[in-house]
This record gives sequence, C-alpha cells and structure tokens, in this order.
Amino acid sequence: MAIEQTIITWIHLTSAAIWVGGSLFIGAVLAPILKTMSFSLEERLQMMIRVGRRFNKIAIPSLIILIVTGIYNSHSFFNNSDLLLSTDYGNWLLVKIILVIALIITYVIHVRIIRKDVEEQIMSKQMSEKQIKKLRIKIIILGEVIVVISVAVLFMAALLNSGI
Ligand code: HEM
Repeated sequence: MAIEQTIITWIHLTSAAIWVGGSLFIGAVLAPILKTMSFSLEERLQMMIRVGRRFNKIAIPSLIILIVTGIYNSHSFFNNSDLLLSTDYGNWLLVKIILVIALIITYVIHVRIIRKDVEEQIMSKQMSEKQIKKLRIKIIILGEVIVVISVAVLFMAALLNSGI
C-alpha cells in the first residue's frame, strides 16, 4: 500500500535527520563553541558527556527505528538474498548495511569509553591532565568517525534512491 510505504519512508527520514543532524550539531557547533569558553578541561569534558547522554535518549531510539524501517524497506532483498549479490541495488544496499554495522560498533565503543565511573574519576580529579587529554582525543576521533560514517550512509541512501 502506497500510504504505508510513504509513512515508513517518512519515519526513516525523520530518524536519519535526528541521528545525523544531532551528531553533526554536537561535532561542528557545540564542541568548537565549548572550546572558546573559559571552562577547565574537566568541566568541558563533563558538559560534553552530559550533552552526549541527553542526545543518546533520542539518538539510540532513532538508530533502532532506522534499522527496523531500513529492514522493512529491504524486505524483498532479505527474502531473496541472491538479489543482494546479483544486482547493483543489492550490492549498494550491502555496502550500506556494512557501513551501518561499522557505525554501531564505533558508537558502542564511543559510549563505553564514557562510562559513569570514568566521568566520576574525571570530576573527582583522580585522573591526571595527561590521561584526560588522551581520553578526550579518543572520544573526539570516535565522534568524528561516527559523523563521517553517518554521512557516508546518507550517500548510500542517495545512490539507492537514484537507481544507479
Ligand atoms: C544510520 C542509519 C541510516 C540512515 C542515516 C539512513 C538514511 C536513509 C535515507 C536518508 C534514505 C532516503 C529515503 C528514501 O529515499 O527512500 C534511506 C532510504 C533507504 N534505506 Fe536507509 N538509513 C539508515 C539505515 C538503513 C538500514 C540499516 C537499512 C537496511 C537494512 C536501510 C535501507 C534503506 C533502503 C532500502 C532505502 C530506500 C532506498 C531507495 O530509495 O531505493 N537504511 N535511508
């Protein structure tokens, strides 16, 4: 039914906007602004951790919805897995799925690095400045990788849509 597919596409698009837009906003707007403010390294990191945790409340459901609606969009390919390998559309879809798996793995590592006990160690000054800087670089690199993979997933969606 056409209206059913329209609603699924709308949900998939809205979730993509939340996931990609939110990650880009944190990386390209919030992080640089925080850098210009006169907070200590600990305070800056704590603020980013708080923003990240709040964002996760909408980002994780969005990612789950993207996967569920994405699987729905691809059901004809999952019912006939030969199509995934034997058609161009199927090949691009496979690349998109692999990118999404890479995205999930990177995201899980990113979130696991910033566990509650790590945040407590930072705030109670149990971590040296060197350790905090190392941690920050890891978080920043993983965050950037998440944004790059997310934008690449969007490119795969555009490729699929154009029928190349
Ligand atoms: C971060 C995760 C994802 C993002 C940001 C994303 C984004 C998008 C966007 C923006 C579209 C365009 C809407 C359209 O034209 O129909 C789309 C379409 C689509 N997505 Fe996703 N998606 C994600 C995950 C997935 C997953 C996991 C699958 C498959 C398991 C999938 C399968 C599809 C399919 C089949 C289409 C339709 C393409 C076409 O027009 O032929 N997506 N996606």
